[in-house]
Amino acid sequence: MKVDVLLGLQWGDEGKGKIVDVLTPRYDAVARFQGGPNAGHTLEFDQKKYILRSIPSGIFQGGKPNVIGNGVVLDPLLFEEEAEALAAAGTDLHKRLFISKKAHLILPTHRLLDAANEAAKGNGKIGTTGKGIGPAYTDKISRNGLRVGDILSGFEAKYAAAKARHLSMLRALNASIDKAAFQKLEAQWLKAVDYLRKFNIVDSEHFVNGLLRDGKCLLAEGAQGTMLDIDFGSYPFVTSSSTICAGCCTGLGVAPHNIGEVYGIFKAYCTRVGGGPFPTELTDATGEAICSRGNEYGSVTGRKRRCGWIDLVALRYAVMLNGVSRLIVMKSDVLDDFDTIKACVAYSVDGKETKDFPFDVEDAKPVYAELPGWKNPIGDMRREEEFPKEFKAYLSFLEKELGVPVSIVSVGPDRLQTVFRHHS
Ligand code: GDP
Ligand code: IMO
Ligand code: MG
Repeated sequence: MKVDVLLGLQWGDEGKGKIVDVLTPRYDAVARFQGGPNAGHTLEFDQKKYILRSIPSGIFQGGKPNVIGNGVVLDPLLFEEEAEALAAAGTDLHKRLFISKKAHLILPTHRLLDAANEAAKGNGKIGTTGKGIGPAYTDKISRNGLRVGDILSGFEAKYAAAKARHLSMLRALNASIDKAAFQKLEAQWLKAVDYLRKFNIVDSEHFVNGLLRDGKCLLAEGAQGTMLDIDFGSYPFVTSSSTICAGCCTGLGVAPHNIGEVYGIFKAYCTRVGGGPFPTELTDATGEAICSRGNEYGSVTGRKRRCGWIDLVALRYAVMLNGVSRLIVMKSDVLDDFDTIKACVAYSVDGKETKDFPFDVEDAKPVYAELPGWKNPIGDMRREEEFPKEFKAYLSFLEKELGVPVSIVSVGPDRLQTVFRHHS
């Protein structure tokens, strides 16, 4: 009767969507607790591919309740697009999706503010997804936000006041606004608000705790990753929500003692989209090889992801912050052809080695361990006994370095390309 949490340990895009879908049959309900349509979670099964942005990745398995929690920021227009695409593919959400009244709305002007804030930062820009995430969370924290519950009564006046406030902020930023384009966007957005009203809009904290009281088990799905967390990520190159396990408590209204397993998910290498420090980044042919074999392009934006070797200093930090109890290793198949695999085991900062993630990583130089590659395609393997001995050694190395068992190994994008280890 617990909430197990699955969250990213790196800079996002670890494969959270795929594994939430795989694990859903073990649970009674699935819930998102933070982030918004900056997320792009990819699921592949039955030769089809789906990309989810705001809707939880438990939506396809067994018609179970899926919850968009209070910690999420929701753009009605992008939600409508996503829900309509799912409906066209045969998945109707009206019975199984539950949206928190306390989730904050992303307004059309939030997108404009996101772009204007980025432009004002010039070379120091974050490289956001442009979905208005930062401005929507800023309004939440500054107590100016509009929530999903607000669309149920007196919405027009609240919306007009928020819009006027945003327009004056945009003027102060000297943002040029294409009036015709904005009016079109706003009209579509307001129609999407009507569309949203037809869904189950609930007091999600009561809904979730009611399920727990009834003896049900929930899986909470993180978005982004620990290194993009507003407090512990490489600030200011972060997103605007709590991506760590604690965010699940505030983002769903779940008490800490109700948290069960914490699944920490990571790739066998690292990627990062947008700006910010990345100690193990490879700008050479090896980085290119990882990018092309791993198809490392943003699932929604198409942006090329920066690639590098696995960073165990950052991962150890993420394991600590989240209290990870089980590890999930993704995309090792991308490294199938490599003669040697490198893993950053420490940083050298000002000539001194450290294993603790420092305040400032800008000048951190990675110290690498080298392991032999397995030089065998693992994508068709379904049992750990089949794994090449070098790959087994690589997994043991990760477990030893991180101090947590690896429970699941993903060997390809498809739902079926998943190996559960014996102790999982
Ligand atoms: P998320 O945001 O954490 O859900 O991850 P994304 O969906 O943004 O990115 C993960 C990408 O890797 C997607 O394109 C997945 O289809 C793909 N993927 C997931 N697991 C594996 C794997 O084990 N091997 C390979 N080659 N691709 C994978
Ligand atoms: P999923 O859930 C990877 C990054 C952006 C940018 C920074 C801030 O698919 O793993 P924002 O739009 O949130 O203000 O952008 O965070 N970012 C992600 N990177 N995966 C994501 O989500 C991301 N969501 C945001 O690229 O650097
Ligand atoms: Mg993604």
